[in-house]
Amino acid sequence: MSGCAPDLTLDPADEACLAGACGEGARLAAQLVVALGRIYGAGDLVPVGSVQVAGVSYRNLGAAGLGFLRDWAAKGASARVPALLNPAGIDLVAWREHGIPEAFARQQLAVIEAYRRLGVTPSCTCTPYLVGNVPRYGEHLAWSESSAVALANSVLGARTNREGGPSALAAAILGKTARYGLHLDAGRRAGMVIDVTCPLRSTADFGALGYLVGRLAGDAVPLLRLRACPEELLGQPDLVRSPYLPHLKGLGAAMAASGAVALYHIAGVTPEARVQGEALVAPGATHCTIADLAPGYAALNTAGAEVDIVSIGCPHASLGELAAAADLLQGRHTRTALWITSARATIEEARRCGIAEPLERAGARLIADTCLVVAPLQHYGFHAVATNSAKLACYAPGHCGLATRYGPLEACVEAAVSGVMRDA
Ligand code: F3S
Repeated sequence: MSGCAPDLTLDPADEACLAGACGEGARLAAQLVVALGRIYGAGDLVPVGSVQVAGVSYRNLGAAGLGFLRDWAAKGASARVPALLNPAGIDLVAWREHGIPEAFARQQLAVIEAYRRLGVTPSCTCTPYLVGNVPRYGEHLAWSESSAVALANSVLGARTNREGGPSALAAAILGKTARYGLHLDAGRRAGMVIDVTCPLRSTADFGALGYLVGRLAGDAVPLLRLRACPEELLGQPDLVRSPYLPHLKGLGAAMAASGAVALYHIAGVTPEARVQGEALVAPGATHCTIADLAPGYAALNTAGAEVDIVSIGCPHASLGELAAAADLLQGRHTRTALWITSARATIEEARRCGIAEPLERAGARLIADTCLVVAPLQHYGFHAVATNSAKLACYAPGHCGLATRYGPLEACVEAAVSGVMRDA
């Protein structure tokens, strides 16, 4: 038996790691995973299929964070399972073209190098499920980017808590995480049922809904019952490849930003709700109704009509979203800055199939590896951003010092061309 709390059972391999048999780096990782298991009352540790590590931008990590990563790498810690990185503070290739200060870029590249030594792949995206890492239904994970956590849990039916950066890294090194919260059936039941009686006409409506749900639910698991659910969503077997992926990733990202929702269900749509129906509702669940999205739009629009930057791709844009933006920009030219952030692999695919060219000809900047929220934006001097992301509209005032205009992709593209964002 271990020296830890009697209710946390460790197998011999965990015990050995904890005793230092796998090296000092692995011992530190095991210590962290076990400590979290004790705090949250886990019964044991569960192997994870993959890990996604947030806490990559040097803007957030600073010298202390970089020192922590270097220390663990020097102690021989290394990921045992596929481990991927969230966005960094710069485009790792084109940062000079973007005018990033040399000193910041040097520190950011040192962070990436430390993660490489720790065996973490510098994919630098918040949409790993769009670039080849699609978890299976029921697979246990240790992911930390909140929008990716919401999507993996809700849309794919995989199981992950909302990990912090260090706890995700520790899980990658140990190959396991503590089994509590959303790893358990009980933790995945809905504590709140929300009847949505207003129509949902666009991806922006899903984002505004997500904002309102997050405010209501906090960290509870909500079950949404959409009165006017789009037909094509019901019973859709492959939501990630469906045209509704942007709607669902925007919905989950918004509720993870305005609240701390890590799992949502939609009756008849998301996999666990399809399988379990009303049995998914926990005893004593609260009920409420959302009948109007206007309060969501009002909260997400803090700027006047004029904007000086437009941002698309939070979470990172899919190929379909890039294609939609390219269609809207065909033969036009932007007046404001237009930043479209996406995974490097998605941008490369867009270049191969001719989607990138009309975007760049129109003046859009395709940016990999980073996003507005984690980049060192202050030296650009922007004041107001238009975005189709409710998550970015939530974060931009506090994280980027930007006032916000929020609306559908079409309105954002018009704003990029005219400098003015009309009301949605
Ligand atoms: Fe991704 Fe950055 Fe938005 S990490 S979800 S693009 S805030």
